[in-house]
Amino acid sequence: MKGIILAGGSATRLYPLSKAISKQIMPVYDKPMIYYPLSALMLAGIREVLVISTPRDLPMFEELLGDGSRIGMKLSYKVQLVPNGLAQAFVLGREFLNGEPGCLILGDNMFYGQHFGHMLRDAVESVQKGGACIFGYEVADPRAYGVVEFEEEQSSDLHGGKETVLKVKSLEEKPAEPKSNYAVPGLYFYDATVCEKAANLQPSARGEYEITDLNKIYLNEGTLKVKLFSRGFAWLDTGNCDSLLEAGNFIATIQNRQGFYVSCIEEIAWRNGWISTEQLAALGKEMKTAYGRYLERIAAKGF
Ligand code: DAU
Repeated sequence: MKGIILAGGSATRLYPLSKAISKQIMPVYDKPMIYYPLSALMLAGIREVLVISTPRDLPMFEELLGDGSRIGMKLSYKVQLVPNGLAQAFVLGREFLNGEPGCLILGDNMFYGQHFGHMLRDAVESVQKGGACIFGYEVADPRAYGVVEFEEEQSSDLHGGKETVLKVKSLEEKPAEPKSNYAVPGLYFYDATVCEKAANLQPSARGEYEITDLNKIYLNEGTLKVKLFSRGFAWLDTGNCDSLLEAGNFIATIQNRQGFYVSCIEEIAWRNGWISTEQLAALGKEMKTAYGRYLERIAAKGF
């Protein structure tokens, strides 16, 4: 399974912050934003990743992450000239995916919670058999998102914190009057037919190749699965200055309380068995920060 991180766009809602640099490279507490979606792919067991961004910003991601070999991964890069829609990831990524299933994650989406890795690996397994797997997350105001409506509101399943797959009734992109409170996070798993489906999409009224339209093709085919994240799970937004600050504070709170780092890509690579304990310690030694000391500490502890 391969992964794509879409980290382009102009992030005008963060101006002047994002006028000269990419939003997805900005700090969320102690690490660049792209570490968070990258770590989600790593937790899914995905080792080969394509990073897509603007001609201006792509070199910065390359400088930050390189070819991925330091964390036992294979990273490659592709320019998106015009930000004309999320589904374009599968047009630009066609050669990279080379007829295989793929996972797309948006470079500004952050996830944190128990059993996340387990849910991700389930999604991988599911689309390897065919179809698509996306997620639902209850939010107070879903108007800024893709919104999923279910056939039947089985309230105990919806709120019981269970991992549930429910029958989907409708999918809408940024509806003025949402039919439910379930937003679709920017994390999508697709089978091997995704590039062909994406290539046949038409632009929406706002001129974008919509990921929601791609998901609707799977829905109409009867092969779309939607899994719910429970209320104890965090899907964080980084769209404006307040949500960016809140996301940073959230990560700081968890890390300082527990002593475990959130979305530490070197740690995940090590726990996945992609780098050795010696390599982990060496990566820590290079950084004269608390982050570096953390890597050295877990390497010394060995578990
Ligand atoms: O965050 C989840 C939401 O992401 C979903 O619920 C929506 O269904 C989906 O359309 C998307 O909505 P957004 O309004 O967040 O999309 P936005 O245009 O802001 O793009 C999301 C990120 O992807 C953003 O960081 C910029 C980047 N992007 C966007 C487009 C359209 C690209 O790199 N290239 C693009 O062409």
